[in-house]
Amino acid sequence: MYNPFTTKVIKDGIRWLAFKTFTIKKLQKEINIELVSRLNYELINSSVNFVIVGFAKAGLPLFGRTVASYLILYEWGFKKKDALNRLKKSCERVKSLARMVGFDIDESTKHDLNTFDLISMFLTKLDDFPRLDLNPSQSGQIKIGKTLTGEEVSLALEDFFKHFAVLGETGSGKSTFVSKIVKNWSELDQHYLIFDWHGEYMKLLNDNSALLVTPEQDFGFDIFEYPTTADPFEHIDLLMEVFSESFDLSVSQQYVLRIALKKAYTEKGHGMSNHTKPVTVDDVIKAINEIRTYSGWEQESKLAVLRRVSKIADTGLKNLLNASQKVGFDNLTKENIIIDLGKLSDDYAKIFVIEAIVRILYNYRLARKITEPHLLVIEEARNVVPFRRQEEPPRMMERLVEELRKFNESVMVVNQLPSTISQELLSAVGNIAVFRLKADIEQDILVKRCGFEKEILKTLSNLSIGQAIFRGHNGLCKIIEYR
Ligand SMILES: Nc1ncnc2c1ncn2[C@@H]1O[C@H](COP(=O)(O)OP(=O)(O)OP(=O)(O)O)[C@@H](O)[C@H]1O
Ligand SMILES: [Mg+2]
Repeated sequence: MYNPFTTKVIKDGIRWLAFKTFTIKKLQKEINIELVSRLNYELINSSVNFVIVGFAKAGLPLFGRTVASYLILYEWGFKKKDALNRLKKSCERVKSLARMVGFDIDESTKHDLNTFDLISMFLTKLDDFPRLDLNPSQSGQIKIGKTLTGEEVSLALEDFFKHFAVLGETGSGKSTFVSKIVKNWSELDQHYLIFDWHGEYMKLLNDNSALLVTPEQDFGFDIFEYPTTADPFEHIDLLMEVFSESFDLSVSQQYVLRIALKKAYTEKGHGMSNHTKPVTVDDVIKAINEIRTYSGWEQESKLAVLRRVSKIADTGLKNLLNASQKVGFDNLTKENIIIDLGKLSDDYAKIFVIEAIVRILYNYRLARKITEPHLLVIEEARNVVPFRRQEEPPRMMERLVEELRKFNESVMVVNQLPSTISQELLSAVGNIAVFRLKADIEQDILVKRCGFEKEILKTLSNLSIGQAIFRGHNGLCKIIEYR
């Protein structure tokens, strides 16, 4: 008997390219259950698709069984060689984790009958199916433009998980290009969230299905809300991270804010009972006001925190971030959302919205293991992932963008100059489209950081509006346009 996942894989077997089997044996030592669940979680999230052969339920042979065979399957990717390399790496990762949790892995054991059956079934399927040695299928492909000779250029959905940088001088066609990609992305029934710095995407996209979040109406998010399964005090830690980073709080100011947040949550029943009420910005302000201070520095810190938090209450941020009608973070990946930041006059307020939402989105994805593909567009990215010197630590957003890859979050960072955003991020993104860009030093960065060849960049300053040099994750460079 195979489990439902196995059956599904057999049914869809044609979509799978490579496999590897190994057997996991229970070692004599105590098994740490927490780490075992971490291993399962890693398996599910590390793009390893696994089947436990001859074993009825998904999970390691924790109780009763001492041996189980895993058949690791790899989905057919864009490039066969890459796919096989990734498979090898994934196996290494699984192996080291398994050892950590108290299992040993043996790749040399002979296959038992079930494993043998399954492998032969796969081999038959693979032999039957001619598509395997052809070009990748066009389904699930997102068109990104045409070459100047009219050849269509597209990317597979998974290629977006490696992130996408869109660069080029003002007016060169970046936002128009991004809006076209977003449209193609949503045509595959995938969802997006756009941090619309200038408030232009509603017009560009003309998408009736999109929810527009603007500071003018009481409809947005609630940053004080947290997953029902989570501990409110963990959420306070998260809020502290966001507030400290965005408001640049000193240690004593952080101390004051933490006390106030704890008080606000406790007074609404959080962490105490099941009957809780939502926490509002006003509750937090009230809690700050009620803090007793015993020294000059405490009073000073209290007033500074009060000033900063009041900013949320006094501006449109309250509607965006503490709205009573809201899109739950749980559903964030199930809607198309445009957040109109153009109406906020203050850049710091815009940055705060982006940082808070991305941080909480990450938390939800992590807590709920949400791995649905989703597209995040960050315009004027230098504000949240700015250039930093190598010796400086990355900002929270830079770390988050990197981490979000694991959850199939696809981030498109849009910025004019390569030099003003994090160079590490620039080196790490899988796909880059550079629109017209004149300055030599900017072109040097593209060579050094992104592996563009000098020769092709010579055309960069002469590109027309809407034309770009595109470099995909496989290193291939092409001039493309989207009309
Ligand atoms: N592919 C295209 N074909 C024709 N016109 C285009 C194309 N792309 C952009 N444009 C036009 O060029 C102008 C600038 O485009 P867009 O706003 O996309 O540039 P941008 O690079 O995002 O600029 P900024 O850095 O100022 O945000 C717009 O008027 C737009 O309609
Ligand atoms: Mg633009």
